Amino acid sequence: MRHNLSDVSTLIRDRRSFAPEAFSSRRVHRDVVEEILRAGTWAPTHGMTQPWRFTVFLGEAVDELKEALPEWYTTFVGDEVNEAKREKLKRRFETCNCVIGIGMVPDANQRISREDEEWAVASAVQNMHLMCTAYGLGAKWTTPGFMGLPEVRQAFGLPEEGKVMGLFYVGYPAGNWPHSHRWPLEFVTRWKGDQGGSRAHEIRPSV
Ligand SMILES: Cc1cc2nc3c(=O)[nH]c(=O)nc-3n(C[C@H](O)[C@H](O)[C@H](O)COP(=O)(O)O)c2cc1C
Repeated sequence: MRHNLSDVSTLIRDRRSFAPEAFSSRRVHRDVVEEILRAGTWAPTHGMTQPWRFTVFLGEAVDELKEALPEWYTTFVGDEVNEAKREKLKRRFETCNCVIGIGMVPDANQRISREDEEWAVASAVQNMHLMCTAYGLGAKWTTPGFMGLPEVRQAFGLPEEGKVMGLFYVGYPAGNWPHSHRWPLEFVTRWKGDQGGSRAHEIRPSV
């Protein structure tokens, strides 16, 4: 065994998504953010293209997002603005002082599919989330509809061929660490070979 299985398994299961509204006002410091990002960069990457690009809004820099998010939301939904939702987008910055813009820039010679580049970035986010868990930090990856707007891409400093893949909120939880659950393996796994005979994948467990 190269690592402590119990520690690894506990860390993976303990990773939770926290709404930014559930953060305390305790500040997240830059050195911790750097460790989180460094963990992200150790994700697998097809052809070593390392397509992840991070834009860190830390401390007073989140004010930029406090202004921008409601605007982006309004642009995206047009006439369908839900005022409560718009307000909520501002309120989250009362407690959250760290947001990482998740971006993808594909390899210049396009030898790797965009899908693979995006999956590499998703893997990076998982690494980051696990590192947050180890620090006792809550985090949430969100993928709001407005993230496809060109102004969001520009705000994250990504080139035209790049893609915004979401916002990653980080903060110390104000309350208890929540628990979750997952479907048992039998519902999501088909064994081939002498252990075969399990049900087809189209059968879904009820949630
Ligand atoms: C690709 C991706 C996008 C997500 N986007 C959102 C989102 O837009 N809003 C949100 O509230 N949660 C979002 N989540 C977080 C999920 O809601 C969360 O992972 C799920 O509820 C399971 O909870 P857990 O992460 O605590 O296990 C996203 C998760 C993934 C993997």
